[in-house]
Amino acid sequence: MPNLAFVNGTWSSLEDAKISIEDRGFQFGDGVYEVIRTYGRAIFGLSEHLARLKISADEIEISLPYSPSELESFIRQGCLDSQHKDTSIYIQLTRGVAPRSHAFPKGVQSTLVMTFRETTRIPTALREKGVSVISVPDMRWGRCHVKSLNLLPNVLAREEALRSGAYEAILVRDGIVTEGAGSNLFAVSGKKIMTTPIGASILSGITRKIVFQMGLEEGLDMRECPLVLEDLYRADELFITGTTVEVLPVVELDGKKIASGRPGKMTSLLQEAFQKYVQGKRTCKDSRVVKD
Ligand SMILES: Cc1ncc(COP(=O)(O)O)c(C=O)c1O
Repeated sequence: MPNLAFVNGTWSSLEDAKISIEDRGFQFGDGVYEVIRTYGRAIFGLSEHLARLKISADEIEISLPYSPSELESFIRQGCLDSQHKDTSIYIQLTRGVAPRSHAFPKGVQSTLVMTFRETTRIPTALREKGVSVISVPDMRWGRCHVKSLNLLPNVLAREEALRSGAYEAILVRDGIVTEGAGSNLFAVSGKKIMTTPIGASILSGITRKIVFQMGLEEGLDMRECPLVLEDLYRADELFITGTTVEVLPVVELDGKKIASGRPGKMTSLLQEAFQKYVQGKRTCKDSRVVKD
């Protein structure tokens, strides 16, 4: 089964795809991206991902070379042609190719690259047993709602986590927990299920939004409120959300067990609701798994 690439309208195998070394994405990280996945033929949160791509692009003044419906049909074509059971779709939009100079180049066409690779779900053992995380200082810029290509702080934080035997790094800025290096975080205390409010300090995760909405629909006490590290150490349950991790229990933070050190009831309930949603067995207001 081929892994496919799309570069400004041209399809090829992933290996044959080329972009210029003068692309500003390569030289400055001057661009934005999205990662979308499919479950079989269902594309998870497609309209939400395309809307977020547009928001990110607008924020840094890059124009999208295609309308959302054109992009959607390219994405569908890529998924069909790559013939994977489950596909990870990467979309990268940059300010285009120009001689290296910091200021925006004039009259340059943006670059839109997409790749379609086979993906698999996160191992069942991790989903059932949970993972450990560490906290690290959030060294990112002040506009984390933009899904920017500049991921160096996230890369270093994740590497630090892996080197210490943890799965994810939880970022803390000025004492406030923001999110994971590549995920959003929820903490459960009693009946309250809390997550950092949307704003410039976090990426507004599509999975976060769907999980939050499903929680409300289940009658759970879902709240957006600032959290400090102490809240996490004292929490009854923690979990992270994201396109790749789905709903993943966190059972240890900085070497300390969270409650009993086992995934909790609320996490399991939301994990189950999420599974039903991606299998098309339940709906969620305002969000849909888009099928062909
Ligand atoms: C920093 C950050 N936060 C949160 C998320 C989760 O977002 P989503 O659920 O849209 O995948 C990601 C995903 O890449 C991320 O990089």
